[in-house]
Amino acid sequence: MRILLVASAFNSLTQRVHTELRDRHHIGVELALGDDLLRARVDSFRPDLILAPMLTTAIPEDVWTRYPVLIVHPGPMGDRGPSSLDWAISGGATEWGVTVLQAVAEMDAGPIWASVPFEVADCGKSELYRNEAADAAVRAVLLAVERFAGDYEPEPLDYTRPDVRGQLRPYHSQQYRRIDWSTESTAAILRKLRAADSQPGIVDVLFGREYFIHGGHHEDKLRGVPGAIIATRDGAVCRATVDGAIWIPQLRPRRVPGGPATFKRPAADVLAAELGDVPEAPITPAEAADRDTWSELRYREEAGVGYLEFAFAGGAMDTRQCRRLLDAYRQAARRPVDVLVLGPARDFFSNGIHLNVIEAAADPAQESWRNITAMDDLVEAILTTTDKLVISALTGNAAAGGVMLALAADEVWCRESVVLNPHYRLMGLYGSEYWTYSLPRRVGAAEAARLASTPLPVGAREAVTLGLADYAVPGTADDFWTWARQEAAALAAAPELAERLLAKKHRRASDEAAKPLAAYREEELTEMHRNFFSPNESYHQLRQNFVYNVSPMVTPAYLLG
Ligand code: COA
Repeated sequence: MRILLVASAFNSLTQRVHTELRDRHHIGVELALGDDLLRARVDSFRPDLILAPMLTTAIPEDVWTRYPVLIVHPGPMGDRGPSSLDWAISGGATEWGVTVLQAVAEMDAGPIWASVPFEVADCGKSELYRNEAADAAVRAVLLAVERFAGDYEPEPLDYTRPDVRGQLRPYHSQQYRRIDWSTESTAAILRKLRAADSQPGIVDVLFGREYFIHGGHHEDKLRGVPGAIIATRDGAVCRATVDGAIWIPQLRPRRVPGGPATFKRPAADVLAAELGDVPEAPITPAEAADRDTWSELRYREEAGVGYLEFAFAGGAMDTRQCRRLLDAYRQAARRPVDVLVLGPARDFFSNGIHLNVIEAAADPAQESWRNITAMDDLVEAILTTTDKLVISALTGNAAAGGVMLALAADEVWCRESVVLNPHYRLMGLYGSEYWTYSLPRRVGAAEAARLASTPLPVGAREAVTLGLADYAVPGTADDFWTWARQEAAALAAAPELAERLLAKKHRRASDEAAKPLAAYREEELTEMHRNFFSPNESYHQLRQNFVYNVSPMVTPAYLLG
């Protein structure tokens, strides 16, 4: 079939649907950038089916009357409105769903093609969206497409049916989100913060100024006057509640009328001038592993395997985060274990250098340079670890330098739903992180060149076929980790491990003799230096567009299909 994906952005779910459908169907993508553009595209593409995985605007009537249009709605049958997941999380729902319905005049009220339930995990909205909701959405889309290709009659929305339990709900505006730190419990505040994470955040006042608060994590020990900022840690701030405290990783100043647009940054950076004598509450990765507190790094050992867990908001890694991860990696590399597993418990593995922190820097080119250098140091440490088997474990997506970080390990294990973007082109960068060594080493020179120049996502199964990854494991993040722990323990106990480590040492030595890692780095950084510091490079403008969420004027050519 010819399927046109219409989406407000080529976001993670749209990318996943693209990777799932494109080997069986002819797929085109059109970003919803205006009704006339959409009409023109539909007329030229002549789709058998239009599918909207993530759409925040309505499809014009003359389109849905001429073509079948299926909308992916992140709510169970009967649920309607623009804030489904916000209501699910703030209402404490334990089960939710994704429904694929046909576009009609009334929003979300069309006949139902498929509906798939999912369990609501204890996490922020966009993390839920990228994980449980996305898994359900892909199942629902595949079912709907299969049904559409057959002779299935979609079911009209009928509120008298017992399995239609949803309802029409309004936009979840700030009036529902407001927090009263002097009366509300930690649990209630966390629910509100999670329902607003990562967008739009919750408007609140700190030190007499309005900010959007983004993210919220439990703190098990620190206590203070409700509402007060009582500690900082690695860029986050800790705020006391009536019965505990909550870590807030990111803030965005509320835009003042007529003032410049604002964007999210580490909370302690945003409040720096106000934090005076607020103490830093450091924690080691090993301590964090046993605590119910916020930490970007955790380290534990089990069955002869070291697990270094990292979790960076949006998968973005600024210079300081790279340095802290490198310190933790070096400590882990000194431990008496033969296998090291790297990766977050859930969600993004890494999306490379931190574009927001760079944008906020006094000298973005210099900060870009510092950030890429810190990423390279981290990747180099992994590439040169020859006395351990290192595994990258991806329960969530990775892009650009984040993919290359994963490829520095000996093996790459992915959850089946992972989407990789192994290219830098969309940010106007040549790329570094030793990609010119790691990528061809895994997929060969020709495929590496193709991947680097084609800015399209690669699904986990395809990644295994290409040699980018070693396994694509079906199931949830928990299923993945159950499998990964067994597999890692088996590797650590395998009699052939010593031989593998010896072979690894030899290969590194012969690769180094053929061309030193330092030479790859120098060549890549020469290109990156030009990207960062030369006039007429597109990177600074592309980064600004990304940080300020500026939509393109038309759908980029690489998506047309
Ligand atoms: N720096 C700063 N923030 C980043 C980031 C980065 N490198 N990568 C992702 N984020 C943020 C996004 O701004 C977004 O923030 P929000 O939740 O406040 O909206 C969040 O992380 C999730 O990203 P989003 O783009 O919504 O997710 P997606 O799954 O739809 O798309 C990517 C994922 C990776 C394709 C897209 O985020 C991207 O292109 N990132 C930039 C990758 C890159 O070029 N890195 C630099 C070169 S190494």
